[in-house]
Amino acid sequence: MEVLGMKIGFVGAGHVTQVLAGLFIKAGHSVVLTNKHGLAKLQPVIEKLGPQAQAGSLAQVAQQELVILAVPFKAVFDLDSKLFADSALVDATNYLPRRDGAYEEVQTHQLASSQLVAKHFPGARVVKAFNTLPVANLNDLSQKGLAGNPTALPLAGDAGVKLQVAGLMRQLGFTPYDVGDLAASQKFQADTPLFLFASNEAGLKRKFASL
Ligand SMILES: NC(=O)c1ccc[n+]([C@@H]2O[C@H](COP(=O)([O-])OP(=O)(O)OC[C@H]3O[C@@H](n4cnc5c(N)ncnc54)[C@H](OP(=O)(O)O)[C@@H]3O)[C@@H](O)[C@H]2O)c1
Repeated sequence: MEVLGMKIGFVGAGHVTQVLAGLFIKAGHSVVLTNKHGLAKLQPVIEKLGPQAQAGSLAQVAQQELVILAVPFKAVFDLDSKLFADSALVDATNYLPRRDGAYEEVQTHQLASSQLVAKHFPGARVVKAFNTLPVANLNDLSQKGLAGNPTALPLAGDAGVKLQVAGLMRQLGFTPYDVGDLAASQKFQADTPLFLFASNEAGLKRKFASL
């Protein structure tokens, strides 16, 4: 799905947001960002991103066509559960036990970390994406790919939102790699061999097949 001129909200304004928002703006979209510590910390980020970026409240971010969740995993559960009842929500978070603490359902693989996120936000149409590679590499990978091939990025979750996200990935120079429903995102979360694995589509296919 080729989507042009979207308004994309970001919860969090750190490393992930700064790189992804920059790539989305370059592709012709605009972004609304919110953070934890307020405008004094957010304003320099907005200025660096330029006129297609604006600061907003959590409620304003939640109203955007697509919302990217880019906060530490444990911070997700401090957010109001009702916020994203109507949202297309992209979970870019990773569950890192040393940073985030214990989440038994995820650690015992009863639930994918993104399913726990979806459980926290009833009504949200959730897709897991943009979590596997260090964002410091995404600018380069989006422009040059890997050895001349586009880098493939896995995504999983709500079918309609996946189409939107896949379209965005293509605009950024990546090949979307559909892994299935949200439960299947367990295959490429932070405790798997897919984490930090950069490859083209064929390499990603081989890696998933080897699991
Ligand atoms: N770094 C990577 O390469 C990478 C790649 C893929 C996925 N991830 C995952 O993506 C997530 C974000 O990573 P990051 O590297 O961008 O982290 P980061 O640089 O530490 O940024 C985290 C952001 O979350 C904001 N935040 C925290 N609690 C919040 C709340 N309750 N409401 C609104 N904003 C809140 C912080 O606000 P303040 O700015 O006000 O402190 C900060 O802007 C993590 O789950 C990480 O594991 C990271």
